[in-house]
Order: sequence, then structure tokens, then C-alpha cells
Amino acid sequence: MTRPADAALRLGVLASGRGSNLQAILDASAAPGFPARVAIVVSDRERAQALDRARAHAVPVVWLNPKDFGERAAYDAALTGVLAARGVGLVCLAGFMRILGPAFVRAWAGRVLNIHPALLPAFPGLAAQRQALEYGVKVAGATVHFVDEGVDTGPIVLQASVPVHPDDTEDSLSARILVEEHRLYPEAIRLFAEGRLTITGRRVLVR
Ligand code: GRF
Repeated sequence: MTRPADAALRLGVLASGRGSNLQAILDASAAPGFPARVAIVVSDRERAQALDRARAHAVPVVWLNPKDFGERAAYDAALTGVLAARGVGLVCLAGFMRILGPAFVRAWAGRVLNIHPALLPAFPGLAAQRQALEYGVKVAGATVHFVDEGVDTGPIVLQASVPVHPDDTEDSLSARILVEEHRLYPEAIRLFAEGRLTITGRRVLVR
């Protein structure tokens, strides 16, 4: 399935920090024929570098300050409002440091992707690269998965592996994994936008 340029899938990217995955998505979507484009970038942090990256591409940004909302459900409802107002068809978590509550996950079921710097189900949660080093694995990697109500537990779309070297530090391993993240995330978005992903239970069929 190909879409005309004006019918590209509209992405809402949620990011809290550096935004290098957002950058990879922005760069991929600038290529002719890419079936998705970033419609809005939302952050919970006012000074997230991700917001500057979006502005540099003339992509609208919204800062949703958690302090303005009493509870998670209110924050998540505001988030849904922002995304829906921009006609978002796929939400991409790219280093977004907040857990999304069950109401958000249900409202957007099958339409939220996350990227995690480990070969899930190993090493979910924070500091995945450090967890991998401390465990002593010889192979690490990255995972793009659909988001469900757990932390890094949803159905897996794509994975890529990298070797762990004996002299690796958290930084060196993270950098090696990041190269794969930047390749994997745009590819997963393309597959979704082209209607080539089907979720069956825990499994994602890629056509
Ligand atoms: C990445 O390692 C991603 O896998 C994890 O958070 C980090 C975000 O990095 N979820 P960036 O903000 O995209 O540079």
C-alpha cells in the first residue's frame, strides 16, 4: 500500500530528552515516498532537546507539564486531546520517561510504539544497557514493540542485536545499540504505515 504524500500517516512523537530517535524519524520522513510524517512532538520536559529538533524541522511542539495535572489520568487525557487534535494515527514513544496509564493505552490500543535499548523480554525498565553489562550477556540490542499496560511488555515488532565487547562501558554499548535504534524505528513506522503489521496475541505478523 502506498499513500500520496498528503495522505501520509500522521505521527505523534513523545520524547523527554535528547531526541536522537525523533531525529532519525524526522530524517527518514523527509525522504521521498516515506509513508509517515511527524505531525506533533509532545514532551513532559520544557527543555528537552527533542523539542529543539522538532522546531528545527518546523514541526509543532507541545510541552505538557506534569505539574499542571493532579493525577496521571488527567495528564494522559490532555495528551490524548493534543494527539487527536493533530489527527495522529500512530504514537511513537521515543525516550518518553512517563508511564502511560491504562485509559491511554486502551484508547490508543495497537497504535502506540516504543523503542527500548535491549532485546526484550530481557532488561525492561530503566538503564537497560547497564543491566545487560552487569548481567554479562554477550549479545545486546534494541526492540521496537507495541505498548500495552506493562512496562516494555507489549508485542514485539522488530529487534536488532549487537555484540557486547569485553571492554564495553555503558556509554560504548549504548552508542552501538543506538545505531540500531535509529535504523529500526523508522523501519517499524514504515511497516505500520504500509499496513503490514498484524497483532495476534503476543505476536506481530510482518507482511
Ligand atoms: C533510547 O535509548 C531509547 O531506546 C530509550 O530512551 C533512549 C532515548 O534516546 N527508550 P533519544 O532521546 O531518542 O536520543
